Amino acid sequence: MDTLLNILLQAETKGVAIGHFNFSDFLMLKAIFEAARDLRVPVVVGASEGERKFIGVHQAAAMVRSFREQFDFPIFLNADHTHSLPGAMEAAEAGFDWIVFDASALPFEENVRQTKAAVQVLKSLRPEILVEGEIGDIGTGSEIHDVAPDLQRGLTTPAEARQFVEETEVDTLAPAVGNMHGMLKSMIAGTAKKRLDIERIRAIKKEARGFMTLHGASGTDDGDLREAITAGITTVHINTEARVAWRRGLDGALAKQPNQVVPYKLLPPVIDSIKQVVAARLALFSQGRRARSAS
Ligand code: G3H
Ligand code: ZN
Repeated sequence: MDTLLNILLQAETKGVAIGHFNFSDFLMLKAIFEAARDLRVPVVVGASEGERKFIGVHQAAAMVRSFREQFDFPIFLNADHTHSLPGAMEAAEAGFDWIVFDASALPFEENVRQTKAAVQVLKSLRPEILVEGEIGDIGTGSEIHDVAPDLQRGLTTPAEARQFVEETEVDTLAPAVGNMHGMLKSMIAGTAKKRLDIERIRAIKKEARGFMTLHGASGTDDGDLREAITAGITTVHINTEARVAWRRGLDGALAKQPNQVVPYKLLPPVIDSIKQVVAARLALFSQGRRARSAS
């Protein structure tokens, strides 16, 4: 099976993006895996610190490995938004393929210092592991927010992106380019969309050169996502959209079968609900340059 690094290289060559979806339970993981397998595209699943605490670091790694091995399928596991080095090391040792080391809340120079140290330690533990660093401010929480944070003050500049990548030697960079974690109520209702600064993405890519990840992509305009991939984004993170689908699927299932107590009879619609969202996003991300310019 191809390595995650090769899969990112191939995505960049083809002008497509790899979908990254967070999971909090087995239903979400199964739905993400099934959607990717149906579409025959590689996929990354992510577990943040909170998600790992709920699932278990080793249990998350074992579940993902079981899908990868049984189906010989390129599904990879990311330790999303990891704020401490011990947490990152724990995930690396448990077999995670990718670590998002997130020191973006710290002043830039301190972020550089801590991220650089994390890259060195994690690569010494597992040379093949990918490490991502973050700069800028895109807010926190893959949930439903009442108000949007002021994104303008935390946007990433091409110059700091270049300095950050050169000094830390991260494999992938997560910039702030108009993206935001979570969704506003208007986004859930479909009356508003997140918009991206495509020129900024292009300029950062030119300066920083390495792989770029777009976090906070739930609720983003489809056209902007297409353009962002063309401009240099190689991985796109979605969480809230899948969580909303999980909740809607669960509400619907409970309402439809109020007396049902058998999980495997009650819960399949939850998987279907998440699967539809993931499949739609994966189809968009894997369109390729030519299809995107035609749409
Ligand atoms: O790391 C997770 C993602 O950035 C998810 O963001 O909840 O806005 O999709 P989202
Ligand atoms: Zn994120």
